[in-house]
Amino acid sequence: MSSNNNYNGYENSSLGENMVKTEKWVKHYSSNHEILLVGEGDFSFALSLAMAFGSGSNIVATSLDSYDSLINTYKKAALNLMHLRFLGATVLHEVDARQMQDHPSLCWRKFDYIVYNFPHAGFYGSEDNPDMINKHQGLVYDFFSNARWLLRHNGQIHVTHKIKPPYSFWNLEELAHQNSLRLMECVPFDIKDYPMYENKRGHSSTIDEPFNWKDSYTFIFTVAPPSPDISSSHFNLQGCRDALPRVKFVVKAEVRHFLMAAGYAGVLVDEYHSVRAMFWGPLPYMCVNFAELLAIKCALLMYERSHLCHRNVALDVESNSNVAISWIRSNFGNTLELSTELQEINMALGRIPNPVELFCCYGKYEGAHYHLVRRLAVKALDTLNMCERWIPDNAGY
Ligand SMILES: C[S@@+](CC[C@H](N)C(=O)[O-])C[C@H]1O[C@@H](n2cnc3c(N)ncnc32)[C@H](O)[C@@H]1O
Repeated sequence: MSSNNNYNGYENSSLGENMVKTEKWVKHYSSNHEILLVGEGDFSFALSLAMAFGSGSNIVATSLDSYDSLINTYKKAALNLMHLRFLGATVLHEVDARQMQDHPSLCWRKFDYIVYNFPHAGFYGSEDNPDMINKHQGLVYDFFSNARWLLRHNGQIHVTHKIKPPYSFWNLEELAHQNSLRLMECVPFDIKDYPMYENKRGHSSTIDEPFNWKDSYTFIFTVAPPSPDISSSHFNLQGCRDALPRVKFVVKAEVRHFLMAAGYAGVLVDEYHSVRAMFWGPLPYMCVNFAELLAIKCALLMYERSHLCHRNVALDVESNSNVAISWIRSNFGNTLELSTELQEINMALGRIPNPVELFCCYGKYEGAHYHLVRRLAVKALDTLNMCERWIPDNAGY
């Protein structure tokens, strides 16, 4: 997927089986891409895209505000929303960018573009105030950490933002980097590219007023490629990795597994190549989030079944964790099923001659999920006859 910066209004027709399918472009965005818009003001940006595409069916437009508050504060919101719905867009209100990966209408979807124009946490003081900058950074950081889970392979996150101080102090690139995202491109923003778009201050008594968008750029981020040194930096395994014969399976996550003198070590990597777990020998214990649990189970069972574990062959298991994540979503609280999964893992661990220690030290669950995941983690440890102290306090559970 590429951004087509020069193709405003460009149309690309191709004959399908029985009909003409016309792709329409507006700046970076195509009518063929699934687009999630976050933090909309009066929904004029969403409408601008939908009007240009001639349809909003590929657009999910969201606001933090409720419908009532929108129509009471933005004079054009009611009309814009009506048009958007008429054009077939999905409109969602009360969607918090900081928690949107868990939103019931979003958590099962993936998007080509996730767009947040002019993120801002509100006008509570001077824009120079370090506390305010901190607040804005928190919003953008959390937006990144949620958005990356809703991205399709090769998808892009777009943030339009001013680049002069104090806005440059937000340091979007660093916030992205901390979320394993990398800046691909920074494109000057021109509101004229989006007819009908009226940018809004979005807070306080001036909520419906525009602001000066000059000196703004659209920052384009993608998921960073995996770091080649992830394993060696964590485990000092440089040299080990390449020396081993390797085999690759496709399951629900990627497990990189390395032979060490003391046993096996490795990292479990999700579909975005972020490290989601580490494991090394010799004791089998685990602290889990359950998407990883399922992925580990798949990896172990396939590895075991192949008999390669008896032959010092390194395991390299590759996939995405979508299925695992949907599994955890549908199984929160189902401890019976959880016990079965754990028992199977336990048995697999017992059968594999090389000692394997599982230590999943990275969790991404917060808020309400924290308690559920922690409860399940305790149950997991219980099933495996391990004590709770293996759940690290800073594990994100
Ligand atoms: C400067 S306004 C920009 C509005 C709109 N994107 C535009 O360009 O006109 C900032 C927007 O961020 C939204 N916002 C603030 N915190 C948010 C959050 N946690 N989740 C989603 N949106 C948020 C506000 O409601 C407001 O609409």
